[in-house]
Amino acid sequence: MSNTIGIDKIAFYTPDYYVDMVELAEARGIDPNKYTIGLQQDLMAVIPVWEDIVTMGANAAQQIIDDADRSLIDQVIFATESSFDYSKSAATYIHRLLDIQPQAASFEVKQACYAGTAGLMMAVNYVRLNPNRRALVITSDIARYGLESSGEPTQGAGAVAMIISNQPRILAIEEETFKYSTEHYDFWRPSHSPVALVDGHFSNELYMDSFVKVFQDAEEAMGRRLATISAFVFHLPYTKMAKKALDALSEAETQLDEKKRSSQIAHWQDQLPAAIEYGRRIGNTYTAALYISFISMLKENETLKAGDRIGLFSYGSGAVSELFFGELVEGYSGQLAETIGLEELANRQQISVAEYEQLFTERDQMDTTNASFDIPETYQGFYLREIDENRRYYDFK
Ligand code: COA
Repeated sequence: MSNTIGIDKIAFYTPDYYVDMVELAEARGIDPNKYTIGLQQDLMAVIPVWEDIVTMGANAAQQIIDDADRSLIDQVIFATESSFDYSKSAATYIHRLLDIQPQAASFEVKQACYAGTAGLMMAVNYVRLNPNRRALVITSDIARYGLESSGEPTQGAGAVAMIISNQPRILAIEEETFKYSTEHYDFWRPSHSPVALVDGHFSNELYMDSFVKVFQDAEEAMGRRLATISAFVFHLPYTKMAKKALDALSEAETQLDEKKRSSQIAHWQDQLPAAIEYGRRIGNTYTAALYISFISMLKENETLKAGDRIGLFSYGSGAVSELFFGELVEGYSGQLAETIGLEELANRQQISVAEYEQLFTERDQMDTTNASFDIPETYQGFYLREIDENRRYYDFK
């Protein structure tokens, strides 16, 4: 592939605490199968008050950044829909905490869960124009719908960090991508609201319609080459959404004849379990969810190999979506060897529903002007030490 640009390094982070979805369902008087089978969610990450989008993003980036990156990165792009400041971007903290050279631009991007892909595409295009430079893209979010709300089982927290370069060792991203914008209220968070507002069923429909639309556009442009895609990964507000998107495709008009189409879609459905392993154990992470799914697939799907083409579908309510493709690079699995995976997810700490509710309420009631935090001795990583007259101070331990 000429003019290759793409993901050179990638890692994710999620907080140490989780609640079991069976326990949450029982506490809410709901059949646990609704959560574990109906939504395909087993565990839900819970974020303590001394962590936020900055600490999660820094903890993800810390796993992959080295001194060469620090001197070559000159774009720090932070995608989130959990911002705590209208003006100062979370990227400015990341730039300092990770000690990135000063001749860099640092900024935040927003468009619901699509923002991470907007950031990634900006980074790819930047590197295309500046092939000797690198860009750091962070996607970091806290998914919050409220205690006992219909969206409660689709909460979570996590971040992904990606370094984009012209010699990518994981995914070479193809230039042609397929975008779709249509204005709607399916999920949004007015600036006064600590939780998202959502019309969940409508959002599911828009998501599926958007996927079918960009798939048809891709088919129009790529013809039979689309059938060579080895696997798709999806934005996951909850992990069953990936299956629902492919189901919607089987009912839509495409150029493939019916027999070929159903065997192709069946193949893509077969690839989904590996891609949703981590999401099942973390929950929704908004901007990060697609990229956590991508890592999950790369680490847990043993049939993939270098040279395989992957489709990535990004959706952000409101609504904007983009379907793009990339080719796995020789040695990609070695590049992911150090990235946390199933073992680390299994080592997190389970908390009760009552403890989750307490942490949720504490964040709601937190004094965001002046506050200090008691960090557990066992905690390792970046943390929010204090807020002093609206200034946030972070440390590492
Ligand atoms: N056993 C097995 N499955 C069950 C079940 C049971 N006892 N009870 C329900 N289900 C299934 C339903 O059939 C449904 O599956 P389907 O969608 O494949 O038909 C699924 O569980 C969810 O049930 P539903 O009745 O639709 O749940 P809900 O009305 O509580 O809404 C969401 C679920 C996902 C819409 C809601 O949690 C939400 O709005 N979450 C936020 C989603 C979001 O973030 N969207 C925006 C970003 S893309």
